[in-house]
Amino acid sequence: MRLQRACLQDIADDLTHKRGYDVVIDFASGLPTQDHIHTVVKPGTLVIYSDIDPVVVEFAKEILKGAPDTYIFQSDARHPETLLSNPQVLELLQGRRDVALVLWGLSSFLNDAELNTTMQAVYNWSGPRATMVFNAQGTDINTNDPAVMQVMALYERMGVKLHARTLSQHHDLVRPWRADEQGFVSLLNWHGCDSTVMTPEDLQMMGSAGGGYGAYLVK
Ligand SMILES: C[S@@+](CC[C@H](N)C(=O)[O-])C[C@H]1O[C@@H](n2cnc3c(N)ncnc32)[C@H](O)[C@@H]1O
Repeated sequence: MRLQRACLQDIADDLTHKRGYDVVIDFASGLPTQDHIHTVVKPGTLVIYSDIDPVVVEFAKEILKGAPDTYIFQSDARHPETLLSNPQVLELLQGRRDVALVLWGLSSFLNDAELNTTMQAVYNWSGPRATMVFNAQGTDINTNDPAVMQVMALYERMGVKLHARTLSQHHDLVRPWRADEQGFVSLLNWHGCDSTVMTPEDLQMMGSAGGGYGAYLVK
């Protein structure tokens, strides 16, 4: 989880300082603590967070009090059009659709149909220069590792089935998006990330990619 968040900071920097996006829309944000996107972006960037969990959203509103140009909405990423057509979001966007979109740390929570429908809906909504930063979460994870089995069973008891996939399955499910020239990069090789946060035991559990791959998806 720490590696996943560390990559998010690098992504926020890259999207706004290097790639020039002035809007970042993040799906399934979790808590926007001091290691999240709004703390790293170029000043003046509009950051729209969202999460399905009303408790996360309430805590997030507290955390974000006074944070400039940063908002959070309760929304289900499986129906991105709900967030993207919210009147308050439309007012904030002022017609901008060539924006940065982030779906990081969610793919394991969605089944194949849900993941592909989400990717297609965001593709159809966004402009030709939009980019989608995607985390192929859990790719190559060792599902026979007792610690992984324990985590999956814990989520299952909360009514959440976690999905472990191969990289090639993820390639198919993100269509019609395609990875840019960098392709899918292992989280351990994600630039700017401190991969030493992973112990040998973590690697045994999370697999050789450190728990997944990330990619800048383009049209
Ligand atoms: C593993 S956290 C990822 C948080 C953050 N994106 C990161 O990478 O650090 C997963 C988050 O996804 C949210 N979530 C799960 N299913 C969701 C859905 N269908 N739509 C939106 N959020 C969802 C959970 O409430 C949780 O906050």
